[in-house]
Amino acid sequence: MEKIGMFWGSTTGNQEEAAKYLMDYMKSEGFEVDSFDIKSTPPEKMLDYTNLIIGCPTWNVGELQEDWEAIFNDYQGLDFSGKTAAFFGCGDQVGYSDNFLDAIGMLAKPFIEKGGNLIGRWSTEGYEFDGSVALDGDEFLGLGLDNDNQEEETEERLIIWAELIRDEFK
Ligand SMILES: Cc1cc2nc3c(=O)[nH]c(=O)nc-3n(C[C@H](O)[C@H](O)[C@H](O)COP(=O)(O)O)c2cc1C
Repeated sequence: MEKIGMFWGSTTGNQEEAAKYLMDYMKSEGFEVDSFDIKSTPPEKMLDYTNLIIGCPTWNVGELQEDWEAIFNDYQGLDFSGKTAAFFGCGDQVGYSDNFLDAIGMLAKPFIEKGGNLIGRWSTEGYEFDGSVALDGDEFLGLGLDNDNQEEETEERLIIWAELIRDEFK
């Protein structure tokens, strides 16, 4: 099994907590996972890994979390051919219904355009919102978490999604 590189950013801790949970789960499943806060990691570090997990909450009405925002130009310039990645993000479907989880789409789309293989699409069932850049048909391009309104769902969503990407990474 290839080692996984997990890259995340977090302003108020929700995405960080989810990343930790996911890392522990993947390790318990026998994967080796290196975890990086994008705040203190050059984006080219992603190119050291074939398998990636990328986590970004949406902030400021349809924007990337600030640390992703700071490196977004460099990120868009990376060549992702030969890479497989799964995306996950925190958002708020009630407060920001028109921009729910936009950051997942804002990072996943350039990844696909630059040759990457995206895994870990996630059903929109169980969420209520009006619009999202993360949508591809009736699915999100990655796992959506909403600790502001559905915190009780987060752990189960993480486990189901982790099992899904575990099988797709293998
Ligand atoms: C000022 C502000 C703007 C936000 N904008 C959005 C948004 O556009 N879309 C969304 O889905 N969530 C939005 N959120 C919700 C955050 O994504 C959510 O609280 C998330 O869990 C924060 O993750 P973090 O704790 O890892 O920083 C916003 C929250 C705040 C406080």
